[in-house]
Amino acid sequence: MKTIIRFFALILSTSVIFTSCAPTGNEGSKNGALTGNAAEKVYVAPGEHDEFYAFISGGFSGQLAVYGLPSGRLFKVIPVFSVDAEKAYGFNEETKPMLNTSHGFIPWDDSHHPDISQTAGELDGRFVFINGNNTPRIAKIDLTTFETTEIIEIPNSAGNHSSSFVTENTEYVVAGTRFSVPYPQRDMPISEYKGNFKGALTFISVEPEHGHMDIAFQIMMPGFNYDLSHPGRGSSHGWFFFTTYNTEEANSLLEVNASQNDKDFIAAINWKMVEEYVKNGGGTKAPANYAHNVYNEDTHTATSTMKKEVVVVDPTEVPGAVYFMPTPKSPHGCDVDPSGEYIIGSGKLAAEITAHSFSKMIKAIEEKNFDGEAYGIPILSYEATLAGSVKQAGLGPLHTEFDGQGNAYTTFFISSEVVKWKLGTWEVVDRKPTYYSVGHLMIPGGNSRKPFGKYVVAMNKITKDRYLPTGPEVTQSAQLYDITGEKMELLLDFPTVGEPHYAAGIAADIVAKNSRKIFKLEENKHEYAISNEGEAKVVRNGNEVHIYMSMIRSHFAPDNIEGVQVGDKVYFHVTNLEQDYDVPHGISMIGANTSELLIMPGQTETFVWEPKQVGVWPFYCTDFCSALHQEMQGYVRVSPKGSSVPITYTLDGDEL
Ligand code: CUA
Repeated sequence: MKTIIRFFALILSTSVIFTSCAPTGNEGSKNGALTGNAAEKVYVAPGEHDEFYAFISGGFSGQLAVYGLPSGRLFKVIPVFSVDAEKAYGFNEETKPMLNTSHGFIPWDDSHHPDISQTAGELDGRFVFINGNNTPRIAKIDLTTFETTEIIEIPNSAGNHSSSFVTENTEYVVAGTRFSVPYPQRDMPISEYKGNFKGALTFISVEPEHGHMDIAFQIMMPGFNYDLSHPGRGSSHGWFFFTTYNTEEANSLLEVNASQNDKDFIAAINWKMVEEYVKNGGGTKAPANYAHNVYNEDTHTATSTMKKEVVVVDPTEVPGAVYFMPTPKSPHGCDVDPSGEYIIGSGKLAAEITAHSFSKMIKAIEEKNFDGEAYGIPILSYEATLAGSVKQAGLGPLHTEFDGQGNAYTTFFISSEVVKWKLGTWEVVDRKPTYYSVGHLMIPGGNSRKPFGKYVVAMNKITKDRYLPTGPEVTQSAQLYDITGEKMELLLDFPTVGEPHYAAGIAADIVAKNSRKIFKLEENKHEYAISNEGEAKVVRNGNEVHIYMSMIRSHFAPDNIEGVQVGDKVYFHVTNLEQDYDVPHGISMIGANTSELLIMPGQTETFVWEPKQVGVWPFYCTDFCSALHQEMQGYVRVSPKGSSVPITYTLDGDEL
């Protein structure tokens, strides 16, 4: 047995590509030669718009990128967990607080699973949520501005991976820990992991009107690894499902030691029951320390608050709320079909895909059809919840999505393919190779009651020879398939920014109509905003110099500034006075150890410059805004520390 496990572990960890072992039945050549009209199907003529938005996470880039489907064109990289010099995110004073955590300012994370907000089980296009794995955080992106407006840190969690999936009315966005850790965190021997570490499953409430996030409660589960999750929907609304692995609770050489058990579990959580329990005063208010960062669109400024308490729930104290469903074997993906009846577990080391039945699960609970317990949590009998399994479908099943027509699509990492199969009959109907080693896949709306169908995007882990080489590091890549027919059809390869870990897609017309064009100047409540050039000024306060600056085609006010000294902290508070769509301006300062600012119409941003050298130093507009963009410039005169040169500046060509 151990030999087999080692073999699987070897296959899983190797970068060798097993395209040649893809099961037969593939149309087209090994290189994915296309049928005649594929180009037509992805061609979006100049000036025309795509049919879908695809929000594809950047994995280790920490960001979320916006593409159009079917063209695969990249529209925007939304900075979320990583600093971004292009947009000044994490560089300007307004957004620095967004990256604050209990570990201080963290300029990077690993972003994995975007999920779009829902109403009544359908995508409403208001927000995208996404998890940061490394320093556990959940972010919210507002789809009127396509900007990150809230980030909440997750205490008692580590490798925040079974996140960030939303319930069908966006009651909660859920964050589950990948790594179990000591709870509370403390200095203890790692060898005492078993029985002492805990896995926190965190339910973050989302306030309906503005989407404000708050940690409602954390369920302290046994010390397994919680890998992925999905909410129930329809009949199973009120439940949440999490895959587990390492139910062995090994702490070393997991590739072998966490692959011993024939079955791990899918944890089924009745969150409505836990919610009720907490509402009635259940749970423990435990000390914690985590950051809650909120960007205010009126002040164009973020604030960070450290929160000190979280409600912790022991699952054994809420009988009937938590069960384990045995699932072969180190399952990764945990996916729920549009009806909410089937819960699909994909065992990485299993040769089959397991489907549990929600109605059978309820029956098994009622009949107490248990097969023991783990840390006081009942284990349901495997046969009692099993709806069926897809046999011999491929090697290394990972993730499943649905088209809303009764079909499921599962990725196979090792055999590098997407397999289409039928819910209920469990028969395989089609398979297509991916290039190469596919991880997640995405069907727009695939995690809702009403998938849009039409396309599936495969997100690949390996690119190899698919594009022109660019040295040892090649582009990351996704592939688009047409799924409108009985057989899937490969339409397009497109490069992605960062690792395309997972994605969420939505019909463009739901989102596009709400997209903001400008920020209204009269609504700008930034502390240092000005509403016209007459209000521009320069104010010294000790060694701080505050410049209240405006920008409009094609000049800054003020432009020349004198009286700054070496050792000063110079704050450029810059307001873009434009009120037309798509007229940003930028500003950059020589020697500033930050980024330029790219400021949208009606917005104010701030950067700090600490001049180190005496001289006269220019600044300029970084965005080609008009025919006279090159004339959009100014100077700052920097005198020695203690100089008697007074603060003066020019407005409209007059020195003040
Ligand atoms: Cu303003 Cu270029």
